[in-house]
Amino acid sequence: MYMGLIGAACLLTAALLAQEPRTWLTSDNSYHPDPQHVANRTHRTLFIPWSWKELVEGPRHREALAQLDSFLSAESPRRDLEPVRALMLQRDLWALHDLIATVKPLSDPAEAARAELRVRLARAVAALALTEEQIVRLPDNYALSVASKKYPARYKSSPAPFLPSDLFDKDSPWVRLNGDPPLASGHTLAVLGRSQFQVFLNIPGGREATLALVKDLNANHRSFPVRAKLPEGTAVALARSVVAIDTAGKMRLSPIVEGLQIRVLGVTGPGQQDVNAFKLDRLALFEGRSGGLIALKTDEEETPFPGSGQPDPANLYGTENKGRGSALVNCLGCHHNAEPEHIKSFGRLASLNAGNEPLKLTTPDRGLEILSRWKQEHETWKLLEPYLKKK
Ligand code: HEC
Repeated sequence: MYMGLIGAACLLTAALLAQEPRTWLTSDNSYHPDPQHVANRTHRTLFIPWSWKELVEGPRHREALAQLDSFLSAESPRRDLEPVRALMLQRDLWALHDLIATVKPLSDPAEAARAELRVRLARAVAALALTEEQIVRLPDNYALSVASKKYPARYKSSPAPFLPSDLFDKDSPWVRLNGDPPLASGHTLAVLGRSQFQVFLNIPGGREATLALVKDLNANHRSFPVRAKLPEGTAVALARSVVAIDTAGKMRLSPIVEGLQIRVLGVTGPGQQDVNAFKLDRLALFEGRSGGLIALKTDEEETPFPGSGQPDPANLYGTENKGRGSALVNCLGCHHNAEPEHIKSFGRLASLNAGNEPLKLTTPDRGLEILSRWKQEHETWKLLEPYLKKK
């Protein structure tokens, strides 16, 4: 079954409705060596460990406003933050902004309180902005993770996770695909466009074989479900990267990969698949240890979706991690059809019509263009935009 926008929206709503608090980063000084630095205090006040509802009413609401005010009145809250830490704090505050902007209308007083918080969050997002040059110079954490050689660079056997060394290479056997609207529409919606999800397809036989298959899929898309014969060992990957808002108020793709999921089809037996997933260890990223991508263990409980590698503040307050079993087993709950010809992202081919583009080879820039357009039409961007700086 193709889970479209509605399914993803239900999932997101369920995550938002869940209330139980969870902790976030463990260290008190994740953003700056001084635990009392305004960035560390802001992080603690907003993200550890309450329900978002407490942020819009009562003493914790007032504390959150006061903390954001002190963040905003600091001479330059981001000047003494390392760019990568500023980026990740911006990512979280932006997510919280969008969450506060989209939660169901509460009572009237809470509505006004929500706006007070939202506006401060929007200003804080702007205050943390990096320049375009700073964003480009952020560490390539994917390459660093590969270079740490913690995981094999190619698929060997189940269940050993692998981190493909050539995923982002030019002319890689992993062919980057997108559509317009974004191909990973469910994931894009679940994080309201604040991360870029890129879908890769890799058919045994190399890039040429994959390109030929994409051509064939596009030519035959009207005969959905697509029953193209894919060879055993066909692999699909979904990479999630952090999107930044720069000092000019523009969305920019950062080099930080915050999650990766891979399915290798047909290798462990007919109709079987091998799944693996990586999440970002944020402290490892900050401390420059290995780039921070670490494979989920087989029994690990992690938000498989919409988090895909890294919890969002939007599901930080949820219980979705608890009692849901292994994230890798849960993959099969949605990707239950392990036949090689079944690739969920291509389910969108079903809804192709004259106005939609079929699968397109893409580049990160083109992907960002599509994503930015999508986000700009969303109400959360319209609320945020007036507070972003313009050059
Ligand atoms: C709640 C349902 C759900 C769960 C759980 C889930 N996925 Fe997906 N996945 C999807 C949907 C839907 C898509 C299609 C893209 C979109 O709409 O965002 C997708 C896309 C993908 C893709 C891109 C290629 C393709 O098959 O479409 C990969 C790779 C992938 N998922 C791997 C995984 C792995 C590995 C796990 C477990 C760690 C997992 N997924 C868990 C729903 C899910």
